[in-house]
Amino acid sequence: MATILVTGGCGYIGSHTIVDLIDHGFEVISIDNYARSTPRLLKGIEKITGKKIINYPVDLCNYEALRAVLRAHPEIEGIIHFAAFKTVPESVEKPLMYYHNNLESLINLLQYIQEYQVPYFVFSSSCSVYGNTDQLPVVEETPLGEAQSPYARTKQMGEQIIYDVSKVASNQFILLRYFNPVGAHPSGWIGEVPLGKPDNLVPVITQTAIGKLPQMQVMGADYPTRDGSCIRDYIHVMDIAHAHTLALQYLMEHRNSSNYEIFNLGTGRGVTVLEAIQAFEKVNGVKLNYTIGPRRPGDVVAIYADNKKAREKLGWEPKYTIEDMMRTAWQWELNMAKGVV
Ligand code: WQD
Repeated sequence: MATILVTGGCGYIGSHTIVDLIDHGFEVISIDNYARSTPRLLKGIEKITGKKIINYPVDLCNYEALRAVLRAHPEIEGIIHFAAFKTVPESVEKPLMYYHNNLESLINLLQYIQEYQVPYFVFSSSCSVYGNTDQLPVVEETPLGEAQSPYARTKQMGEQIIYDVSKVASNQFILLRYFNPVGAHPSGWIGEVPLGKPDNLVPVITQTAIGKLPQMQVMGADYPTRDGSCIRDYIHVMDIAHAHTLALQYLMEHRNSSNYEIFNLGTGRGVTVLEAIQAFEKVNGVKLNYTIGPRRPGDVVAIYADNKKAREKLGWEPKYTIEDMMRTAWQWELNMAKGVV
């Protein structure tokens, strides 16, 4: 039974990945300093899996503190590194906070795994590394464009730092480029917990539907797309989670062809903002109060994945539909409103 360290285990994708890892026989330890999360989701993980997850509230930017935790767990064979700040507008306002937090935490982890030979490392990357590309769908070899935000640039830099380390290290690395993770675990016990007013589309939709937000805006309906609104590749968070389990199994079974491999995690289907709203209204029987507003600076017109490499090499098959994404996201919002989670 291999033991995996999940950094950011109290966060949205981290918590869902812990559930999938446990479902597939892994032992899990978490490091999360609650900078962008709370222990709340640990309760949901326990309800779903019956397992009480140990979380160390340690700042990954503090190497000695990180090292102390990891030296107490020499059984750790792999690390999945989620912990990072990820709010695009905040990164524009506070670039140094993003470079400091997102890069120093990664560098500390890389230093540790080299020093103590932790074999496997999975890095949480993002489709935002592609920038504004018109080569759609994007494949992993699609040249990276200009990062549209400091957040995106920390992901580009993170990928490059790992690449340089992989050239001189025996550790085995996988980088997973998420498209737009949305939805919640079907049980309704865990989901996305936005801190403050959400920026991302689906939490804005569910908070508008439940009345936490009086109205929402479609940020631009004059784009050169089929209905004028932006196109994204929304992917259920449980499909993203399972890809991490498959990535670790791929490395542990030595099926990887190099010690630095990148995979797109998207459905391969582009969905417009208006189509996402229509799917939400249809599957939940809820009318959404939205208006059409101006474009949001920094938005790319369209981006969606070619996920052939992940399907063929990892054996990954996204199984949740846009309707499942909207149904589970709504169920989670209702459970938060009822105070049962
Ligand atoms: C999606 C679409 C908006 C809110 C970012 C990061 C990405 C990942 C996900 C971290 C856009 C539109 C949104 C609203 C709207 N983050 N929208 N009204 O910007 O594609 O991706 O978040 O991992 O790396 O880049 O996601 O959900 O913010 O926006 O019309 O109130 O929804 O304009 O077209 P985005 P998003």
